[in-house]
Amino acid sequence: MKRLLIFILPILIIVAIGFTVFGIMQIRFTEEKLMDDLRRKAKSVAEGVEFSAKAIIINNDLRYANRMVESFQRRERLQGCVIYDKEGKVLAITERFSDWEHTEKPYIQDVLTNKISRGAMKIFKDYSLYTYIIPVTDDENNILGIVEVIYDTSYVFTTMADLWKRLSIILISLLVLIVLIMLLIQRQIFILPVIRLTEWFQHFQQGETENAHPIKGKDELGKLASEVEQVALNLRIARKVVTEKAAERLQKEELWTEAKLRDLIHARLGENALIVVSNREPYMHVIDDITGQPKCIRPASGVVTAIDPILRACGGTWVAHGSGNADSKFVNSKDKLGVPPGDNRYILKRVWLTKEEEEGYYYGFANEGLWPLCHITHTRPMFRESDWQMYKKVNQKFADSVLTELPSRNPFVFIQDYHFMLLAGMVKEKRPDAKIALFWHIPWPNPEVFSTCPYQKQILEGMLACDLIGFHVQSHCNNFLETANKLLESRIDTEKFSVVRSGKETLVKAFPISVDCDITGNITKVESEQIDKIRGEFELEGKIVALGVDRIDYTKGLIERMLAVDRFIEKNPQYKNKFVFIQLAAPSRTHIKHYHDLMNEIDELVEKKNWKYSQGRWRPIVYLKRHFSPEEIKPFYALADICIVSSLHDGMNLVAKEYVASKNSLNGVLILSRFTGAARELIDAVQINPYAIEEFSDAIKLAVEMPAEEKKKRMKSMRKIVSENNVYRWAGNIITELTALEKA
Ligand code: G6P
Repeated sequence: MKRLLIFILPILIIVAIGFTVFGIMQIRFTEEKLMDDLRRKAKSVAEGVEFSAKAIIINNDLRYANRMVESFQRRERLQGCVIYDKEGKVLAITERFSDWEHTEKPYIQDVLTNKISRGAMKIFKDYSLYTYIIPVTDDENNILGIVEVIYDTSYVFTTMADLWKRLSIILISLLVLIVLIMLLIQRQIFILPVIRLTEWFQHFQQGETENAHPIKGKDELGKLASEVEQVALNLRIARKVVTEKAAERLQKEELWTEAKLRDLIHARLGENALIVVSNREPYMHVIDDITGQPKCIRPASGVVTAIDPILRACGGTWVAHGSGNADSKFVNSKDKLGVPPGDNRYILKRVWLTKEEEEGYYYGFANEGLWPLCHITHTRPMFRESDWQMYKKVNQKFADSVLTELPSRNPFVFIQDYHFMLLAGMVKEKRPDAKIALFWHIPWPNPEVFSTCPYQKQILEGMLACDLIGFHVQSHCNNFLETANKLLESRIDTEKFSVVRSGKETLVKAFPISVDCDITGNITKVESEQIDKIRGEFELEGKIVALGVDRIDYTKGLIERMLAVDRFIEKNPQYKNKFVFIQLAAPSRTHIKHYHDLMNEIDELVEKKNWKYSQGRWRPIVYLKRHFSPEEIKPFYALADICIVSSLHDGMNLVAKEYVASKNSLNGVLILSRFTGAARELIDAVQINPYAIEEFSDAIKLAVEMPAEEKKKRMKSMRKIVSENNVYRWAGNIITELTALEKA
């Protein structure tokens, strides 16, 4: 628009100035002409009256004089006539001008003396008048009297005003016409070809490579189009080479690494980018409370922990809710940005939600409805119709956003979690050719529990639009298959583990999610400095340190953990002053009352227990309630002798795996709730029932007193599992499964 103005504005200014000058000249000319006519008319009328006036004055015929002056009364425009005697006294005057007699008229004496006619402009009452005065003389040129003819000139000004109005209308119409013509020309010459070229480029990128670019001429635009075509071709060839090489390497490698996953994705998806959708974004821009400046943070989320390394390795587009209060400042015109900031490996596309949408879809339906429905923690789910409506609306919003990203051939969409149960159906409606996988990061309840959800049918139907649904563990898959079997008219294929409904088959499989486990990773100099700093700050030297890293969520068993620490010290007072439990706690979903209340409850409990045992400066619990970045968490993992994961129910729990992955010193014990998905794989962890506080506190003692050899043995075996079943294998398995479906 700005460019368009620069183009049109000078033309408009020139036309406006030219036309105004022309208008002024035209008006001047017309005014001159009208006044000239008026003067001539007044003169000829006065001369016409002179003869009769002479007879009137000689005969002193006042009756005739009055009749004559009154004849002016009837004339169309305001006109009048005055007859004076030779003294300058009024003999007769047109009635409508009767007050004229009393106005100052110094020119009368002048005319009587010099006997010369004259015309003059005069203001009388509200009128602008023109008077023409002619002396009446006898044959010897002796003055007999005067005749004065008066004309109202206002019609001249009315005519001028009309003319101005007409000229202005013509000028405005002309300017509008010029703007329209310019817009049309500019559209035809510049915009349309650029639109066509952009569309061609987009289609080319999406895989429609048959057509040549649409700009035919050899002018500048044509040259640009050829350059664009060349770039597009080079890009395509480069991608093809990458795909072929990737397929070759894939045959050779054994262990799943970042590179192996990259090769798999390039080989299986070819030129198409991986499109991931989740509610939580991997990088969030927020205004720092202290500095007031925007900063980028990594939200505490299992989804982010798992998916970010995959997209870092393979590239692609991640569509997510732009929930940071400074997010909008960091996107381009298509709401996208390259992430990680400073090392752009993939594209983050932010979707904007209104407060009402976030309230209904995220806080309401997803986190007050589905979250407690799927976790067995005795928290009652809340299902509100208005939240459900928002949930549908937001799913559609994300579907629309995803649709604009899909390539024209073989699109592949990877949806994350319970926020988007309806998304697959909405995408398939427009793009039935899209292959869609949904990974469910939380547990799936049994059919009886799920059937309490009022929207069970729509939800299941929405999910079954997917080609593949993944859960962490087989028991969640079994629950889902049973749910579909009981609540929908569908067929369960127990051989393939799939649900068949209305001819559409959805595979349901377990893919235990994991982390990026860098087995060789040693502690860097910076990290060891950080460790020393933490030890100093919290006076940890010579003490046994247990660690918890969680969002503040009622599923995480935080209260039970504090009670178990309390009981452990109660039963083992010899560990007073020798044991510290550090809890890193990220506030989460704080607008929901349950979460808000939980925060207060934990605050009180920590305060109470610390008061109970406090000895000098020692406190058993260090409770750090804020958001911690992965880089900040790393030194805590490194110094922790024990990590406690005590979820009451958890899909997988990646903190457990992160702790194991970080312990290449092998010097650590994991206490793990048996109600987590991770407990199925990490059998060498000290497993607990977090509800059983006695057993839990004994587990802490066991961990504290575990011999070094035993610790090493257990940690080694857990690290083997995590490194082999790492997040690259997880993603590789899902993509292999889905792309195999395509060929079937
Ligand atoms: C769980 C869910 C994730 C979610 C995370 C954090 O791990 O499975 O989808 O991102 O909790 O919760 P939040 O609501 O902050 O995204």
